[in-house]
This record gives sequence, structure tokens and C-alpha cells, in this order.
Amino acid sequence: MPPQAMSENTMLLKPTLHVEVAVKRQPSSLLEVKTLRADLKQWFVDRHVTVKIGQDIIVDGDEQCLAIVDHVGVADYTGPLNLLGYYGTESVQIDLQTYVLRSETDTDGRRSIAQETDGGVPQARVLALPSVALKDEWDSLVFDDLLPSRLLRYMTRMVGMMRQPGLSLAAFNWNRLCLLHGPPGSGKSTLCRALAQKLSIRLGDAFPRATLIEINTNAMLSKYFGESGKLIGATFERIYAAAQDQGTLICVVMDEVETIAGSRERSTEGGECGDGLRATNQLLTALDRLRHLSNVIVLCTSNLIGAIDQAFLDRVDIKQLIPSPSPAAIYNIFRSCLNELLRSSLVSTTTVQVTARKTVTRGVSKDPRRTKIQAVSSSPEPWAVISAPEVPTFSEVQIELMDKPQSAGYRVWALAQRCEGFSGRTLRRLPILGLAMYTWGGESVTLDNAISALEAAVNQELTVAKAKGADTDMHDG
Ligand SMILES: Nc1ncnc2c1ncn2[C@@H]1O[C@H](COP(=O)(O)OP(=O)(O)O)[C@@H](O)[C@H]1O
Ligand SMILES: [Mg+2]
Repeated sequence: MPPQAMSENTMLLKPTLHVEVAVKRQPSSLLEVKTLRADLKQWFVDRHVTVKIGQDIIVDGDEQCLAIVDHVGVADYTGPLNLLGYYGTESVQIDLQTYVLRSETDTDGRRSIAQETDGGVPQARVLALPSVALKDEWDSLVFDDLLPSRLLRYMTRMVGMMRQPGLSLAAFNWNRLCLLHGPPGSGKSTLCRALAQKLSIRLGDAFPRATLIEINTNAMLSKYFGESGKLIGATFERIYAAAQDQGTLICVVMDEVETIAGSRERSTEGGECGDGLRATNQLLTALDRLRHLSNVIVLCTSNLIGAIDQAFLDRVDIKQLIPSPSPAAIYNIFRSCLNELLRSSLVSTTTVQVTARKTVTRGVSKDPRRTKIQAVSSSPEPWAVISAPEVPTFSEVQIELMDKPQSAGYRVWALAQRCEGFSGRTLRRLPILGLAMYTWGGESVTLDNAISALEAAVNQELTVAKAKGADTDMHDG
């Protein structure tokens, strides 16, 4: 395609700002819902000239809005990259969705999908979406390059296109099947649930109702020969029945899918003539049947993509590697943990005066990133005072604090660079573990103490990782 045509094509993409409004209750008729959304959209555009992603919109003062609205969030933006991060509400299309968070017990009578197996373990967990139980999952995840938003956009488009009137589904081989794979603890399971939650909000226009069905893959493996296939068949039969209501979006989540989608080749090679093979066959048949229902989306995770059956992988539309966090993401994970400790007063919120000499590392740093940033920051005074009621953002550190080695931001960034390869799960544990192990309760712990404790916890984790590495090397050798 010539470059000219390509840029014209890109222009066809209308930049859209996604605004999510949690309301106290949704009107009962579709027409009223539409009117409510249109009114809120007008209110939003009238009062906000520019907004940024992640901004919480304050509603107070407006009586009419206060009566209906719980929370307004500028959730996301789709369109050409805007480096400033601010968007003029007049120059983009506004996609405003209203939703009511559903309680965990609220399942619209669809709990029958979650029948129990012989062992008394439910085969699946059923939640009405969007759910209170999942309200913080999306924001708790930290990834580079807007990975979750990108996945959400793919899936929204995918479901949207499938519903195009007159489109013959038979012409495409689309399963609406997405597989997130990568190292353990990288956030795959959390992301699956968060995506289901977001999809239910983003696709609110097309689907007035949404349900999450989380299949317990471990409960599918029966101790009785030949039973696993049957269990899978029965569970998917119920999902198929629930999906007959075209107004309900069904998000099926299969965590650690290799448990039931294991390679059939491998199990025959290993002399296994049984259940694993039948389970995989049954799953493939069930998925092929669901494929024709455009209101079903299937999200799976795996730590072991190599162990998954080729025929299953062949049906996956989106395979996404979820890596361990990068240093920048690690910084943001630590930052969110430390800020939470500050917010909850486990760590003292009194303003800590951090003073630092400016000349310590200027010009002698071997780290190219560091030198580059120092060239940008050129404040003339030799001393700087930083108040720390909050750990600074990553960009604040990069722009302002790279020559203040004793500042909270600098110290956390230095730590983050040492933690490459740690899982998100470990990273979220270390700040609180450090606090428990290396500070005394009772007296107030300052942010500086909390960071020192985090340093100690990181050092310990690195020692364990090193010992484990040496151990593996010995065994390998
Ligand atoms: N990228 C990440 N950003 C923030 N937190 C993360 C990230 N990855 C993992 N976590 C934390 O680790 C926990 C476990 O993640 P989980 O989704 O179970 O990982 P996986 O399914 O990949 O093993 C999550 O609850 C979350 O607190
Ligand atoms: Mg998992």
C-alpha cells in the first residue's frame, strides 16, 4: 500500500474517548438508557474542555447528576497517539457508557451453570457483570505500551464486527478466543477478569446484560476414568444454553487452560490412553459449537503454551504474551504499593523533608539513561527540598529527581532496576513484607523507613533467586 493511502486510512479511524459512568440505577427501558447517556454526554462536554485518561470527574454541585451518578471516569482513548495525554472533548468522539455495578450474589438466576462436581467443587464461578468484585482489577495492573487497552480494543472491535447485520459468519474462521500466556505471576488471570469487566461496560450498548463464567479447569479433571470429557461437555452445554439470549454477553474464562487442552500428541507419546485426550477432544468440539454464537467470548491463560494442543492453539485468534514487568512498570507497582501504605497511614504521611546534594552523580554516571536525564534537569540551586506525601510519578523521577539519590523517587527507581525478572505477584508482596520484617510496629514508620525495608526485602529476594539459580545450574551441569 503506498504511504499516502495508508495515512488516509489511518485518518478514517475516528479518535474516541471512552467515558465510563457508574450510575445508581439504570432506567428500565432501552430508550430511557439512551436518553440518559445522551444527557450525560452533553453534561460532560459542556463542563470539560480538556480531560486526560485516568481522570476522575468530580460531580458535586450538580444536583441532577448527583442524584443519578456514582462515579465518572475517563477510562480510555482509541485513536492516533497523543503524547500530551490531554484530549479536547470537542475534537474527539465521546463514547459514554453507563453501568451499574452488580453485587456478587446477583446472578440473574444463572447460577445453575456452576453445578458441583462429585468432589463438591463447583465446575465454574458465575458472576453478573460488571461486578463489584472486579471493580479494582483493571487499575491494579501495570503494563507498558498500554497492553490491556490494546487487547480491549481488539476484542471490542471483534465482537462489534461480528454483529454487523448481514455479515456471513461462515466466511470467517473466528472463534473470539484469546490466550494470554507468559511466566507465572505476570497478571494473566487478573487481566482476563479485568477484560471481561471492561468488555461488559464498553459493549453496554450492544449487550444490556453480561455474565462472567470462570471455568474451574482443575475441577474438570475427574478421578474417574472417562468422566473429564463428560464434565467438560456438560459445563459447555450449560454455557451454550445461557448464550441463547442474544442480549447477554457471555465471557468465558479458562485459567491454566493446558490442564484441559493438553497436547494430545504428548499424551499418546507418554503412553497415556485416557482422560487428557478425551478432555481435549471434548473441549475442541464444545468451542466449535460456541463459535457460531456472536455474544460469546473466551479468554484463557497458560504458563505453559508449549504443553497446549496444536488444534486448540490453531483456534486461538489472539495469542498475547504477558511478560514480567519492565523496570518502569516495576517502579509503578512499587509506587502504588507505597502510596497505598501512605494513604492508609501504615506509613507516616507527615511531610518528610528529603534533602540531597545536587553534585553527587552529575557527569560521572555510567548509566546512559541517567546522564541523558541529567542534561535535561538544570536547576541551579545546590540543595533541593522535596516534600513526600506521595511517591512521585515515574516521569517526575526521570525529569526532576535523577540527581537526588536520597529522594524517595530516586531510591525506588534504583530498586526497580534491580528487580527485573521478578513477577508482578512478588513485586506486590515485597513492600508489605519488607514492612513486616524490617520495621517495628507501634511507632510511626516514615516513607524513608518503608523504602529501606523494601530494599532489605528486595535484597533477600535477590539472594534467594541467586541461590535458586546456582542450584539449577548445578543440576543442569
Ligand atoms: N503487571 C502487573 N501489575 C500489577 N500487579 C501485578 C501484575 N502482574 C501481577 N500482579 C499482581 O500479582 C497478582 C497475581 O497475578 P495473577 O493474575 O494471578 O498472575 P498469573 O495469572 O499470571 O499467574 C495479582 O493479583 C496482582 O496483584
Ligand atoms: Mg493465573
